Amino acid sequence: MDFPHVSGSLGIVHPLCIERGRNAEVWDEQGRHYIDFIGGIGVLNLGHGHPAVVEAVKAQVETLMHSAFNALPHRGYLEVAEALDRFVPVDYPLSCMLTNSGAEATENALKIARGATGRQAVIAFDDGFHGRTLAALNLNGKVKPYKHRLGALPGPVFHLPFPSRDSSVSADEAMAALTRLFEVEVPSDEVAAIIVEPVQGEGGFRLLDAGFAARLRSLCDEHGIVLILDEIQSGFGRTGERFAFSHLGIEPDLLLMGKSMAAGLPLAAVAGRASLMDGLPRGGLGGTYSGNAVACAAARTVMDLMDEARLRQWGEAFEAAIVTAHGDWRERFPMVGAMTGIGAMRGIVFEDTEHATGAEHLAALLTAAREAGVLLMPSGRQRNVLRLLAPLTIESEAMDEGLLRITRALETLAP
Ligand SMILES: Cc1ncc(COP(=O)(O)O)c(C=O)c1O
Repeated sequence: MDFPHVSGSLGIVHPLCIERGRNAEVWDEQGRHYIDFIGGIGVLNLGHGHPAVVEAVKAQVETLMHSAFNALPHRGYLEVAEALDRFVPVDYPLSCMLTNSGAEATENALKIARGATGRQAVIAFDDGFHGRTLAALNLNGKVKPYKHRLGALPGPVFHLPFPSRDSSVSADEAMAALTRLFEVEVPSDEVAAIIVEPVQGEGGFRLLDAGFAARLRSLCDEHGIVLILDEIQSGFGRTGERFAFSHLGIEPDLLLMGKSMAAGLPLAAVAGRASLMDGLPRGGLGGTYSGNAVACAAARTVMDLMDEARLRQWGEAFEAAIVTAHGDWRERFPMVGAMTGIGAMRGIVFEDTEHATGAEHLAALLTAAREAGVLLMPSGRQRNVLRLLAPLTIESEAMDEGLLRITRALETLAP
């Protein structure tokens, strides 16, 4: 399928056009049915068209569609701010600003960290992903396609290897790289912020080493550096907890949220300590659409629906199904390698074999799976990690059917 009037620089994964969706299932314009393991790239943890969200959105559309919060505050924004204070498990009172997208949240977090510290440098991680706007993309730990051909980008930004049981980098190696950075590249008192994903999304669903996370936390405290945790993909229940930082035992100074926050409506947020959030002059933060009333109505409903018990239950059911399927695939198919991630945020590494690279195997699987009626998405620096982002609310029959279709697709691949 061609899209002649759409920029060819958009990298479209599946050449089809979706018409409607219900929970974990979608139908294209030809009426073909698919099980959706992409979930709007992590936006649909509560599935397509969750009835409670649809109802809240309809009611809001009929009451107030928009008010530019900077000019004329509205109740929805205030309620989301209060709900976030209850929903985000940190020990301090939370202050926030709402944005339209994850990248915009990243950009604003950089402004907030600069404003609060009077410093400019930022440390990010190899294979990390924080958005596609100019400052955000310079934080991404991957050149192609994000930074290629763009020239000078807003800096200074430095990258460290990402320590994880899902990569070959240990906590000690990453700490040594950080020590070297402070000695060779940039003094610690010029660093405004360190930004990291507790579980890398684009980078291949890799869990940050918990010991390293603790060392990072104390190092930031010691040097007055703002620790920004980007949970735009890992937050809102994806890992079985509200936020993945709970698995690591640390708290952020600033937290980035987005994607599943408003179940499909464009809404994201930067939230954190008021002492940081209040650091810029009045008017230094804002935006015409940020915190749109309809998106706020969706977000309030999402937070009501995601109570602790349900999240754990959904996360455990999802994880159990994937772990079992992965065990079976790994025994049967030579290109299927290790499983990455945690909870319901799981990736499957595709290995090189004598016939093809892991990335080629995964690309072939994406096509075969689509033909078998299931939609999949790659991740990882080499595009060789299958990321499974079906809604947490997926019915067990749909999950079984989806996994069966993936198995059938795997059976068609050359070893
Ligand atoms: C961890 C992370 N941060 C930031 C972003 C950027 O969010 P958006 O696409 O809403 O700008 C993404 C998007 O994939 C993400 O996964």
